[in-house]
Amino acid sequence: MLKLDEVVNSDCLTWLAKQEEPFADLIFADPPFNIGYQYDVYEDRRAYDDYYAWTEQWITACRRALKPTGAFWIAIGDDYAAEVRLLGRKAGLHLRNWVIWHYTFGQQTKLKFARSHTHLFYFVADARSFTFNDEAVRTFSDRQRRYNDRRANPAGKLPDDTWAEFPRVCGTFAEREGWHPCQMPETVLARIVLATSRVGDVVFDPFAGSGTTLVAAKKYHRHYMGTELSPEYVDGIRRRLAEVQPIADLATPGDWSPAHVELLQATYCSAGVRTSQLGESPELLESFTQHFNAKLTAAGCQRMYAAAEVWGRLESMRRRNELAMIRVHAFEDRLASVRPAEAYSSGAAGAVPIPRRRKTRRPAEVDLPLLADSV
Ligand SMILES: C[S@@+](CC[C@H](N)C(=O)[O-])C[C@H]1O[C@@H](n2cnc3c(N)ncnc32)[C@H](O)[C@@H]1O
Repeated sequence: MLKLDEVVNSDCLTWLAKQEEPFADLIFADPPFNIGYQYDVYEDRRAYDDYYAWTEQWITACRRALKPTGAFWIAIGDDYAAEVRLLGRKAGLHLRNWVIWHYTFGQQTKLKFARSHTHLFYFVADARSFTFNDEAVRTFSDRQRRYNDRRANPAGKLPDDTWAEFPRVCGTFAEREGWHPCQMPETVLARIVLATSRVGDVVFDPFAGSGTTLVAAKKYHRHYMGTELSPEYVDGIRRRLAEVQPIADLATPGDWSPAHVELLQATYCSAGVRTSQLGESPELLESFTQHFNAKLTAAGCQRMYAAAEVWGRLESMRRRNELAMIRVHAFEDRLASVRPAEAYSSGAAGAVPIPRRRKTRRPAEVDLPLLADSV
């Protein structure tokens, strides 16, 4: 009998070989990209044929673990994207989207253009039978947020297959755990989990890494299961998961739980509007509120917020500079004492002093505003 809601210190192939029945409703696999990253156990520089054969093995093993209505997401870099797409087809998977996650804060290069994207393949086992909670991921169309066009669908639109709203988790971000070299942002996994699985489903990550997939699954009331080769990372994942509370219906009218506030902030950051726009347009605010409530529903919450409550909370968060997409560690007293308006006085992110890294795991935070809110 499969024990759920845990991470196992194992090679994913060994562990998957022991599973007799398909068990996963959603698989998110973010393997090492074979580009020489420094992991503590895994050697990320293998011969092409060796890496290719291994990729085929784990895709086939995951395919066997996928339920007939399941979804299988694979993150991969340019070097092996074409191979993964074809191996997915060979494994009998149907491609629904080839998403490009375009991130900011990519690593700089000297003699070629800097890498700023990752491929996210969204496969399903059955092209006609799968979960897709469209309301949970709807966002504003440009007709709504830019052109004030009456023809706009008030329900908003589905996000494009190029995701540009989620920055990479770089070294200075508060979200960064600090003990894993390539932590995915929780916002990317939140979108995937909310859109392509249901409350109570089983989410599996064969390359758990820092545990981001498992954190998102736990937070949004899915069961989770992960395998990870490194015992040190497994310890880190267990610590991280122990701090996660599933989002709950604790909030009563007029009251907000921290998890709801966090989801409100994430919804705002990916919406691409300013609070002033929401304040001026009841239609836009109503639509934003629907998007936020739909996420709560997909996360299993009954509590729905009225537009006025959402507006009141957004306004108070804006006044306290709590709406920033990026929350950085307060590395130095100097940075902590720089008021955000001063930090962004030139209007460019480059105006912020580069902070020194602090060694503590969860330092205090200082919020920097979204550029949209600082102009
Ligand atoms: C790109 S990282 C995953 C990062 C993860 N998505 C996150 O957000 O933290 C890949 C991970 O796969 C692990 N790994 C490599 N080979 C593995 C294997 N055969 N079985 C399980 N884990 C493996 C590595 O130790 C590494 O932590």
